[in-house]
Amino acid sequence: MTRLGIVLSGRGSNFLAIADQIQQGNLPAEIAVVISNRPDAAGLAAARERGLVALALPSKGLDREEYDQRLVAALKEHQVDWVILAGYLRILSAEFIRAFPQRILNIHPSLLPAFPGLDAQEQAFTYGVKIAGCTVHFVDEQLDHGPIVLQAAVPVADSDTAQTLSARLLREEHRLYSEALRLLLTRPWRIVDRRVVLGE
Ligand code: GRF
Repeated sequence: MTRLGIVLSGRGSNFLAIADQIQQGNLPAEIAVVISNRPDAAGLAAARERGLVALALPSKGLDREEYDQRLVAALKEHQVDWVILAGYLRILSAEFIRAFPQRILNIHPSLLPAFPGLDAQEQAFTYGVKIAGCTVHFVDEQLDHGPIVLQAAVPVADSDTAQTLSARLLREEHRLYSEALRLLLTRPWRIVDRRVVLGE
């Protein structure tokens, strides 16, 4: 069974959506470990409640290289095949990326390459887009940048606020992340330049 390492910093709703899909038998994977750089992350508490291996690995006071070495070591120790970033608020070092080639995924709440970085939903709302969305992508050394696995569009209504739009986006994120992972785990695929190409 494919072993997932979930890395998060906050509430962990995307992690929980993936855990639900696994539990319901819709995703051929298991969660080997959930790691947070923030010991007080709600996602970590939720992982413990579900009886998953949950690890706090505080990043305070460590530089990126040093921290990432520890993170890689913890993931390897739990024999993780795929690293699933789920609201992880740090950029990964080159060394981290090299430790899991083509096996690190992230979800971002915009239609990349529009609105990378923090508060993407608010950025899109303030910009006045009529179609917002979310993106599941491979992670490379640049922020919110790697090859795209799946995207979903979410219409913006005139009556929306940044909050209502974020809530609609989040529901779509929860669906999309598992869907992207399911594709990658069950179908042949390859990356051609920046394009993720699925086979039969
Ligand atoms: C989500 O909006 C995700 O797209 C972004 O960070 C947020 C994490 O939310 N990368 P949660 O912790 O999964 O609830």
